[in-house]
Amino acid sequence: MKLQRLVLETFRNHEQTIVDCSSGVNLFLGDNGEGKTNILEGISYLCLSKSFYAANDTIVMNVQKNGFVVTGDFLSDANIFYETRVVFDKLQNQKTITVNKAKVDKASSLLGQFPMVILSPEQSSITFGSPSDRRRFVDFVISQSSRTYLEYLIEYKRILKQRNKILSDMIFSHKENNTAIEPWNEILVRVGTALVEKRIEFIEDFQTIVIDSYATVAGIAERPEISYVPSFKCAAGKEAIETTFHQALKDRDQEERRIGHSLVGPHRDEFIFKINKLDTRNFASQGQHKTFLIAIKLAEFFYLKERCNEIPILLLDDVLSEMDGRRSQRLLETIAELGQVFITSTDERALNWIPIVSSNPRKFFVRQGTINRVEDAAYIR
Ligand SMILES: Nc1ncnc2c1ncn2[C@@H]1O[C@H](COP(=O)(O)OP(=O)(O)OP(=O)(O)O)[C@@H](O)[C@H]1O
Ligand SMILES: [Mg+2]
Repeated sequence: MKLQRLVLETFRNHEQTIVDCSSGVNLFLGDNGEGKTNILEGISYLCLSKSFYAANDTIVMNVQKNGFVVTGDFLSDANIFYETRVVFDKLQNQKTITVNKAKVDKASSLLGQFPMVILSPEQSSITFGSPSDRRRFVDFVISQSSRTYLEYLIEYKRILKQRNKILSDMIFSHKENNTAIEPWNEILVRVGTALVEKRIEFIEDFQTIVIDSYATVAGIAERPEISYVPSFKCAAGKEAIETTFHQALKDRDQEERRIGHSLVGPHRDEFIFKINKLDTRNFASQGQHKTFLIAIKLAEFFYLKERCNEIPILLLDDVLSEMDGRRSQRLLETIAELGQVFITSTDERALNWIPIVSSNPRKFFVRQGTINRVEDAAYIR
């Protein structure tokens, strides 16, 4: 997938910004606070229907305006043209998404159609943060590549909410309500099992790709590992998962009733990242965290490329500033070959490592929400 043109209207500090994109590397240079990340955020609206970090629609809308529009012209790998448009209207509190002028019914339907991988400082929570950060990452990758998984995930969250409500109501009313909870157990196990099955399959595939990507980024003999630890012990296979899930619910029934929320199921699963058999959360150095993060992001790229049958767009926000020259060079040489990349940096020297011939780089200066393209490719060196 290639983004040919991006238009931001009253989006953050961009009044009207038009980016005619290179199909290779696009570099956005500028000082702090000029509006570089905002451009990547605009791209994420086109691919995910929302910001790649926590901000909501009202926050990204220009503070002095009543809405925003993000438009993108895409060309798929099979040469099909798509114009995607996200329009937010604050007064009606409504976000409308259209692809080739046809309205997209649910925002989630967009996911996976324009696959995207983002590497930004916020993402460091994947290796540093809590289990929920890693679950969110895994769910996000699988959801971009599997509509079924995404639907099960949405359904699971709904079921969990209902079941938690019954459990907490029992506490407040001091009444046991077995008839209310039983049907929710059945459905929790059924939908939860589908998620666990897919997560087992995903980690098996993903782990192999991570090992390769890690070697590419680090260039040294460290052994990364990702393991999946479901909230209850289970063997692979639908029936085995269902049986152990039911058993785990029985075992923790009293505890759940005492606490008032659900303690077993995919919402409590963990993904453990290790380097040379040591948990990254407790043992990895800063540099190893960074390397691990880049490796899983590259792995995400390769995984999505294969599963979506479409080359994802790669966004790198402020990644280079934190890396030593040798690693920056390795990273840029690797990613310049991958497809279309959008990179932000405050440091012009970052560009020196981009191979010009293969990546057809284009350079833009960002200043107070406006951009200027530097036309001369020779200047880039
Ligand atoms: N909703 C908004 N409306 C108007 N301006 C906004 C809005 N949100 C953020 N800004 C402005 O956008 C600028 C920040 O943009 P952005 O995060 O893209 O900067 P950046 O170039 O990536 O900077 P850095 O190098 O520090 O990461 C700030 O000047 C901020 O005041
Ligand atoms: Mg930024």
